[in-house]
Amino acid sequence: MTQRKSFEAALEAVDDEAIARPMAPTLGELWSRRAILKGLGAAGLVATTSTSLFALAACDGPEKVPGFTFKELPRGVDERHHVAEGYDADILIRWGDPVLAAAPAFDPQRQTAEAQRQQFGYNNDYVGFVPLPYGSGASDRGLLCVNHEYTNAPLMFPGLADVKEASSEQVDVAIAAHGCSIVEIALGANGKWAPVAAGVYNRRITPLDTEIRISGPAAGHARLKTSVDPEGTRVLGTLNNCAGGITPWGSYLTGEENVNIYFAGKIDAHPEAANYARMGIPGDKMGWARFHKRFDINEEPNEANRFGWVVEIDPLDPAAAPRKRTALGRFKHEGCENALTKDGRLAVYMGDDQRFEYLYKFVTAGKVDPQDRAVNRDLLDEGTLYVARFEEDGSGTWRPLVHDANGLNAANGFSSQADVLIEARRAADILGATPLDRPEDVQPNPQTGKVYISLTNNSKRTADKIDAVNPRADNLWGQIVEITPKNGDHGADSFTWTLLVTCGDPAEPEEKAKWNGATTADGWFACPDNLAVDGKGRLWVATDQGDEWTKTSGAADGMFALETDGARRGTSRRFFRVPVGAEMCGPCFTPDSKTFFVAVQHPGADGTKDFKGFERASTFDDPATRWPDFTPGMPPRPSVVAIREKKGGPIGG
Ligand code: FEO
Ligand code: CA
Ligand code: CA
Repeated sequence: MTQRKSFEAALEAVDDEAIARPMAPTLGELWSRRAILKGLGAAGLVATTSTSLFALAACDGPEKVPGFTFKELPRGVDERHHVAEGYDADILIRWGDPVLAAAPAFDPQRQTAEAQRQQFGYNNDYVGFVPLPYGSGASDRGLLCVNHEYTNAPLMFPGLADVKEASSEQVDVAIAAHGCSIVEIALGANGKWAPVAAGVYNRRITPLDTEIRISGPAAGHARLKTSVDPEGTRVLGTLNNCAGGITPWGSYLTGEENVNIYFAGKIDAHPEAANYARMGIPGDKMGWARFHKRFDINEEPNEANRFGWVVEIDPLDPAAAPRKRTALGRFKHEGCENALTKDGRLAVYMGDDQRFEYLYKFVTAGKVDPQDRAVNRDLLDEGTLYVARFEEDGSGTWRPLVHDANGLNAANGFSSQADVLIEARRAADILGATPLDRPEDVQPNPQTGKVYISLTNNSKRTADKIDAVNPRADNLWGQIVEITPKNGDHGADSFTWTLLVTCGDPAEPEEKAKWNGATTADGWFACPDNLAVDGKGRLWVATDQGDEWTKTSGAADGMFALETDGARRGTSRRFFRVPVGAEMCGPCFTPDSKTFFVAVQHPGADGTKDFKGFERASTFDDPATRWPDFTPGMPPRPSVVAIREKKGGPIGG
């Protein structure tokens, strides 16, 4: 095993780890209806009769969702990307392409932090699209909002075998390649998308030099104060931005996921020892603390409490500081897709992606104002965070994380709502939340009011820990849960649920995988991750099988269309394949559903030892693929791809 392999495997393991809880939840067993009501009362939530325009946007009940008609793509794996017949899949923007007007040309042999902070970052994950002009619903011009989840130094820099041997300058390049990009893009008369050079909204947000404000109930709390920020309200950058969401007012939400990998130091006798252990801190995989003391938990004891939040960015105001919205809790945030409640508030759905972690929902206290963006600016600072409990009978409840209710009190180490939010996982333990098989993206369907949850896999679930929503031990393949909010209201405190599919090879016996019988040998998938819903209300699933893809599907990750309605419900078909070593991220449609943006993350990285014809670990100097440029000396480059039907019709038929 080479160092390259070790690094990639180590990052995989971060997603997969289960963090030991201090003790099994006990108060959850004592849960009562009275307790739920007490929590809700504290949050000031009162049922109202809605007169809001937004009531029209909340769904009242199931609506028929049409099927897919495109011709399925065969399974396989090679150095290139592939899309279903009849479609074009063009590279839109790559790692190193200019974002800011003064960005120098990409030079991978001599990359600098100053260049990188102006260029498109590494490992594009979530992709959002905000039409321009704002409110136009345009499908030919808009702002692409892109997360750059993490860096992979041995694939970014020549001659580097081990990430922890990266130089100070290389570490700064890596830091500048993190964060987010906002890039104006336009559809040309030739039917091809391209970035708008020097777009006035173009912006890079990085942990190198972007100040982010901390807002909401935990802002200014003693546990968020550092030597450079004695107020506990300002932090440099955002880290490990995985999935996200766009709000009805056109702001961009981005989730901080595996933030533990940046922090080094000793946990013994640390004032945050229990809290940090629950998050896997210090989980140093990057070696940044060698040059930046804020990533050493002994030098700067509270810095790690300032990561693991949802960040809100206004892509329409490049001068506005992004905000960490602490009301949404601190954990390993995957996405932040959202939907309106029947009375016009915003519900934000969030997975905590780690083995045996939880599903959350945040509901704002105030209503969204559809006319005035300014009114919505700080809406996410006030509201109630809930965690999900799934019952064996197909019912479920949302349990509020509210201080001084249901055991979230000083006796259990929570002195304020800030404490509850900083240690949201421990609070959720006490509330009796259901440990899940790694909740990734959570996607409400605006056409039907249902919500889809990717539970990507959990090889550590044992037979004695299976339950109805996590039905398999040694679960390498994952499942997708469908939940129906009570009365079709995303603000409701209960729901019903069912498993839409149990992933895996449909040729296996039924207890291994459950698909509609129409799913073919080419169409099935493993390890669902990012989700999207198109304009017809149809579900699309991106996969991430990680390093050991040969054990899950044996084919490249990609994008799959999954029927949710009618006789073909639970039928999957393959639409797009990533090049070897990549995972599929960022599914995002333009409002007319005629363009599908997808993100190819870490090409040439995962599991290249299992790739026929390569069979060794991948490095900058000797990568498994040089996608997408295939130019000698050019490393593989994570890129966003724009997919269009050749005839210009809607994606998926
Ligand atoms: Fe960043 Fe859970 O995927
Ligand atoms: Ca993900
Ligand atoms: Ca992933």
